[in-house]
Amino acid sequence: MNYNEVSFKAAYGTINQLPKSVRPEISFAGRSNVGKSSLLNKLFNRKGLAKVSSTPGKTATINFFTASSADFVDLPGYGYAKVSKTERQRWSGLIEGYFHQDRRFALVVSLIDIRHAASELDVQMIDFLMEEGLPFVVVLTKADKLSKSQVNRQVAAIRKQLGFEPEDPIIAVSSEKGTGIDVLKRTIEYAIQE
Ligand code: GTP
Ligand code: MG
Repeated sequence: MNYNEVSFKAAYGTINQLPKSVRPEISFAGRSNVGKSSLLNKLFNRKGLAKVSSTPGKTATINFFTASSADFVDLPGYGYAKVSKTERQRWSGLIEGYFHQDRRFALVVSLIDIRHAASELDVQMIDFLMEEGLPFVVVLTKADKLSKSQVNRQVAAIRKQLGFEPEDPIIAVSSEKGTGIDVLKRTIEYAIQE
């Protein structure tokens, strides 16, 4: 994967607009505001590639980015209480609809804020990925907000909460400081070659 090459492909507001999945897809899923779009920008070192906001609910469509060896898919966040119920249902419809399609899921990057335990929706998401046998990695975001020892403690706690085996992957990252980005890139590389 050449991270110097990337372009925005399109934003999709309904499931039936989605293009047929031909290339491997690296998808980013997680609560609103967890840092999905920021992580995408950090991977490609391009600040404005995906729109970022301190207000949750920024990404309201499924956004595709074309990179050299895969498509990157920025999903709307789930679990944001402050948008209308209709809008929340539309987003969860998009996320569920996307994952129920017959697509080339190379890797689902499932993001959780490192400062908190996994939410009920995070657990549902990860259970779904396990049941479906989809390749995924859990990424704990905003590691710069904690000390190194707190990071280690949270990694262990969330591992335990999710019932992970020692070989199940979990990576602490910071899109601000660049922590964990190399490890994530290696994981993506490996997933594309599978
Ligand atoms: P939605 O599109 O609303 O679902 O959110 P998102 O998951 O795409 O989050 P986004 O990347 O827009 O980031 C949300 C907020 O968290 C922004 O204010 C970011 O600057 C901040 N943020 C993201 N990643 C990090 C990080 O690694 N460290 C710190 N300190 N802040 C971060
Ligand atoms: Mg976003």
